[in-house]
Amino acid sequence: MSNSSSISRLTVYFKRNGLRATVRRFGLAARRTLFSSRMVLFYCDLPALSPPTADLPSALKVERHTNQTDLSPQDMHEITSFWNPQQARRNVEERFELGASLWMIKLEDKLAGYGWTLQGRTVEPHYFPLGADDVQFLDFHVFPKYRGRAMDWVLMTHILHRLAAEGRARAFGEAAEWNKASLSSFAMTPFRRLGWARKFTILRRTMVYWDQNQAVEHKRELKKQSVAATGREGAKIPDLRA
Ligand SMILES: CC(C)(COP(=O)(O)OP(=O)(O)OC[C@H]1O[C@@H](n2cnc3c(N)ncnc32)[C@H](O)[C@@H]1OP(=O)(O)O)[C@@H](O)C(=O)NCCC(=O)NCCS
Repeated sequence: MSNSSSISRLTVYFKRNGLRATVRRFGLAARRTLFSSRMVLFYCDLPALSPPTADLPSALKVERHTNQTDLSPQDMHEITSFWNPQQARRNVEERFELGASLWMIKLEDKLAGYGWTLQGRTVEPHYFPLGADDVQFLDFHVFPKYRGRAMDWVLMTHILHRLAAEGRARAFGEAAEWNKASLSSFAMTPFRRLGWARKFTILRRTMVYWDQNQAVEHKRELKKQSVAATGREGAKIPDLRA
């Protein structure tokens, strides 16, 4: 997130919640930046996904939107009004322009949560490049009164199956290491952990530091095994990103 949008978010938070709450929120953000700033990255191999075993319960509905014009004003209001509305509206416009899909989960026709997917590219510089058929999951949100009811899991799992049926290759998602609700939600889905990493963008250059990259470690392990088996280096190592 850019400095200007962080300041704008802080200003809106201050106007809504007052000085005391803002100082507390700022302290929490600083502690997270200092002590738990890693992201946990997840992936899902879509062709390997088994087909869904059941339909969605009849009270639940998932909608996919690929442009702003078919979003109802009510839904648009709900997804943009709970934090900085101006910035949130800009984000919605920018994402649709990039070709992203907005997925909304509704319980008895009421919006319970939403999330975005973007194919072949990412909104911001990412930890690694995506392939043309790879899909990024981003900004999943469940409204407070619907939390703890597995809405996020239902929505993410439903999207994974839809993308698999469309022939997409891999899905990637991420959650901050402090975000226990998001991590435990990911753990229930077919997503698997890829590793932990940090990312910094300075003067438009993005630097990525991996604390653990399970794909690379798996490759090294395969390499060791193939050297042990063949007695020589250079045997073909399957590319996990292929
Ligand atoms: C992260 C988030 C999407 C999870 O949505 P959710 O539908 O509540 O997820 P689940 O119902 O699967 O719950 C996930 C975990 O959080 C717990 N939880 C989260 N909010 C809760 C609440 N209000 N009441 C009870 N439990 C809650 C659940 O018990 C569960 O933990 P468990 O697996 O140990 O039981 C939601 O908390 C949210 O929108 N948070 C703010 C935005 C965010 O952080 N998004 C993710 C980053 S992209």
